[in-house]
Amino acid sequence: MESSSFIRRLPKAELHLHLEGTVTPETLVELSACNPGPPLDLAQARALYQYTDFTGFLMAFKAVTAHLRSPEDYELVTWRMIERLARQGIVHAEVYVSVGVVYYWRRCEFEPLFFGMERARARAEAELGISVFWIFDAVRHFGPEEAARVFRKAAELRPQFPSIVGIGIGGDERRVGAEPFRELYAEARDAGLRLTAHAGETAGPENIWGAINIGAERLGHALTAALDPELMDLLAERQIAVEICVTSNLRTGCCARIEDHPLRRYFDSGLMVTLNSDDPALFQSDLEDEYCLARKGFAFTEEQLRELAANSVEASFLPAERKVMLLRRIESLE
Ligand code: HPA
Ligand code: ZN
Repeated sequence: MESSSFIRRLPKAELHLHLEGTVTPETLVELSACNPGPPLDLAQARALYQYTDFTGFLMAFKAVTAHLRSPEDYELVTWRMIERLARQGIVHAEVYVSVGVVYYWRRCEFEPLFFGMERARARAEAELGISVFWIFDAVRHFGPEEAARVFRKAAELRPQFPSIVGIGIGGDERRVGAEPFRELYAEARDAGLRLTAHAGETAGPENIWGAINIGAERLGHALTAALDPELMDLLAERQIAVEICVTSNLRTGCCARIEDHPLRRYFDSGLMVTLNSDDPALFQSDLEDEYCLARKGFAFTEEQLRELAANSVEASFLPAERKVMLLRRIESLE
């Protein structure tokens, strides 16, 4: 989608982005040439990115992740992700990494992979002037015991790596709600981690209540909050940030038509709305595209896009001083 200079120059934060979902088929081909096993050609790599519904999307996500093997792979995909973020005028990102998939499907240690990610993050911060935090994401339908391994690893590494800012749960909400993770969320909070949860993407508003009730500070998607007026009031009153991912919802079929998407309604109801890309390589849409879509598909004015960018900074887990500095830059952009 064609971007305006205003959108590109607008300092933006991206708060709902999966590292594995930023990896392009071209990069997978490159990685497969160095990894054990038969190398992928581009057509084979592209075939992994095909899906027709949400379950198919989760399988595609897993198939792509399966091709990320070594610390060097994680370093390379992190570097490329941050380069792309910087090109879009993104100044800060909070990035989910599917530690749950690594533990459950691959049965390997996450630390060496994380050290690769950290090398790229530190270099990108120094060279590109962009800050990146990590959110360790568990796969909810693997259950609380698997999630415990993910969250405890985040707590264990955080003192040494303050870039690990929080935890979350992704995966299939239709199979598991938020309640089974209550104690683990309390434990993570006590360890100084911030709490997020995918909620109300494939399941109804009861799952969003569930996520709020276990302490989630930010909600991924929250698409079905629109069905519950009481919940809408609560989200507006408490200013609980919603990480809206319009193209993701359309491509996975969680939202059938753009006319049905509640983005505009949430914004007009005073919710703390942020725009996000979720998995740009799987949805062929990056954050700049999402801002363009808000303008063209939902009639957001430049001033309203500026407000969305300010929301993304306010809803981030950045320290207050950096928030203030970025908010000033957003306000003064001409
Ligand atoms: N929802 C659930 N699981 C996911 C997502 C998502 O948006 N992206 C990657 N895994
Ligand atoms: Zn997501």
